[in-house]
Amino acid sequence: MTETVTKPKILVTGGAGFIGSHLVDRLVEDGHPVVVVDNLFAGRAANINPKVLREEDGSRFYQMDIRDHELHRVFAIENPEYVFHLAGQIDLRLSVQDPIHDIDINIIGGINLLKSCVHTSVKKIIFASSGGAVYGELPVGVEKFSHNHAPAPVSPYGHSKLVFERHLGYAKDAYGIDYMALRFANVYGPRQESSRECGVISIFIQNFLKGKESVINGDGSYTRDFVYVGDCVDACMRALHSNVTGVYNIGTGVRTSINDLFNILVTVSGDHREPQYAPAKKGDVSHSCLDYCVTRDILGWEPKVALDEGVRRIFTWNTDPEYVTRAHENELLYQTLSPHQRCRHWLHGSY
Ligand SMILES: NC(=O)c1ccc[n+]([C@@H]2O[C@H](COP(=O)([O-])OP(=O)(O)OC[C@H]3O[C@@H](n4cnc5c(N)ncnc54)[C@H](O)[C@@H]3O)[C@@H](O)[C@H]2O)c1
Repeated sequence: MTETVTKPKILVTGGAGFIGSHLVDRLVEDGHPVVVVDNLFAGRAANINPKVLREEDGSRFYQMDIRDHELHRVFAIENPEYVFHLAGQIDLRLSVQDPIHDIDINIIGGINLLKSCVHTSVKKIIFASSGGAVYGELPVGVEKFSHNHAPAPVSPYGHSKLVFERHLGYAKDAYGIDYMALRFANVYGPRQESSRECGVISIFIQNFLKGKESVINGDGSYTRDFVYVGDCVDACMRALHSNVTGVYNIGTGVRTSINDLFNILVTVSGDHREPQYAPAKKGDVSHSCLDYCVTRDILGWEPKVALDEGVRRIFTWNTDPEYVTRAHENELLYQTLSPHQRCRHWLHGSY
């Protein structure tokens, strides 16, 4: 007789978003019961794994804000062993315009979550930090940010990511809760929203598909380190299965200028266009690139998907009928959940 091994339950905040939904797909595929907490501010029901929406095998979706004072009840009911924290205010420029809003979600909301993790003895929390935002501007003469480069954020978003990393360190010292902060470079891939000002690749690709002009802020010489979402999910899985604690860079070590990126899109799409140029935006750094050597040595992680291949995958995904069907079916599934299920507030009855 074969014995069924129950995999640990995992709670993912931001599991309806771009990176979070890919992570949830992978966790479900690996047989974990997955609890998704997302307020759907930017995430979409279409992204959520159908097994989670159907509440199969111990999985469940809570449409809830991480700042909600009732969040601890989700933890009391679900008792997750591990937590991935990806929910957040991700718009760097919005953080410049409204730093209090950024602090409210990224710091206060994070600490509300951390409090629940401590109270229910979660074994480990894995946090989506941001290398580009936490390290700040790449100094002249430095090719990439090493693992131990001193953080110097230049935006409220970068500061709040760093503050939350420090709170994870505090929780480890004070309560013994393990953590890993993964400092992602610029993540790109299918399901990244193009409607906001983040995610230059998805914005450009949507413009290509719709025949619209693309605007480059600045002269296009600024560089970024673009890492494919599947590689980030792989890093998350390695973080889950590792017993180390700390902060790790998740990037490719390759700097690509925005002009070069645009040319890659032209080559992959075969659509010969010219970009428009506009003044640079406040809060943007000129150059950013992450050295992942320590991550490779500790987690055995390396990026596998080259930029042109990743871009090709997004173009393909956009026209994949399977994706369109899944998105449509998910929206229908979500509509069948009662408002009570969707909002899971605690006023009427209890869970
Ligand atoms: N995309 C990148 O290039 C990148 C780079 C570095 C770090 N990160 C971090 O990775 C995480 C995921 O980013 P993403 O690109 O998938 O963004 P995303 O906006 O697609 O995902 C964030 C999710 O969090 C949810 N959310 C926002 N505020 C919430 C709140 N108050 N309560 C509950 N849910 C809330 C949104 O609805 C969304 O589903 C973020 O923390 C982001 O800062 C992203």
